[in-house]
Amino acid sequence: MKDKLEQVKIEAVKAFASAKDETELEALEIKYLGRKGVLAALMQGVAGLPGAERPAMGKLANDVKSAVGRALAERRKELESAKLGAIADAEWMDLTVPGKRPPKGHVHIVTDAIAAVTEIFSRIGFTRVRYPEVEWDWYAFEALNMPKDHPARDEWETFFMDAPEDPKLGKMVLTPHTSSGQIRELKKGKLPIRMINISKTYRRQSDVTHVPMFHQFEGLMVDKDVSVTHLKGVLDFFAREFFGRGRKTRLRPFHFRFTEPSFEIDISCDICGGTGQVNHAKCRVCKEGWLELGGAGMVHPNVLKACGVDPEKWSGFAFGWGVERTMMMREGVKIDDIRHLYRNDFRFLTQF
Ligand code: DAH
Repeated sequence: MKDKLEQVKIEAVKAFASAKDETELEALEIKYLGRKGVLAALMQGVAGLPGAERPAMGKLANDVKSAVGRALAERRKELESAKLGAIADAEWMDLTVPGKRPPKGHVHIVTDAIAAVTEIFSRIGFTRVRYPEVEWDWYAFEALNMPKDHPARDEWETFFMDAPEDPKLGKMVLTPHTSSGQIRELKKGKLPIRMINISKTYRRQSDVTHVPMFHQFEGLMVDKDVSVTHLKGVLDFFAREFFGRGRKTRLRPFHFRFTEPSFEIDISCDICGGTGQVNHAKCRVCKEGWLELGGAGMVHPNVLKACGVDPEKWSGFAFGWGVERTMMMREGVKIDDIRHLYRNDFRFLTQF
């Protein structure tokens, strides 16, 4: 009996000491210390011994039981602290490592260009205004000397709203150009005028140089004795301030219904340097070295009349250019497809 007890003690202590985890430990606990375990059986054996042997054997059995109990408790503590250690290791952090800065946004390149245009014109007394993204036919065409069914209207590949027609103002359209802002401004009846209308415009078009939603800036100056010289001076000032001295502009005679005389304003292309060629191939953007920025001219008397302004007393000039296109011709901005601007690709946008 004595040997048996000693042997169980050695065996159990060893087994507990090498238990890998709590599950194994629990199984061993049941095996040795459980109600039907090895030690319980031995205790029963002790109870069945002759009276003289019982006290000594009983003491030994109790010693063995507490030794085994201690071995279990010790191992359990060890396993517990190893687990806590692992958690602490995983959660350790070095407080001296420099922090990561959260990414910082910036305004879109077009918003930036709008701000620049506004600022440049404000220096010569032009006030920024903006008008609705939906417009009546009368403001967009009729008052601009383009009567109903006039073929000139085809130029403005217009989106029509699915809305009831107004008996006087006609159909509702997505504003196809900022020139309707001239009418809205003239109709206010406050003269003289120096406005710069920068708004969203819409046309049914999409290719390397066109997007269906784009921005235009429209200048209008109406005063006494305004002439083409003033127009030329204002455009030259803008070109110099916005593009820098290296860029050239040219005025080409053109035709618009709402100006007389009319011009088209071109600027030398920055992609090909005004040569029309990139690596012996035609420049994808301009094809001939010049890029059309938009129109300009002297406000047609019919436009002034439609707005109740006397063309005998007042005269003016107007111009309307695309913001995106103008910005793309800026020094250092080399964008070979206007559609990139609105694809919301961070790899593109973060370059600017
Ligand atoms: N509105 C014209 C367009 O979108 C551009 C334009 C031409 C505006 C001549 C003007 C102008 O103010 O005088 O194509």
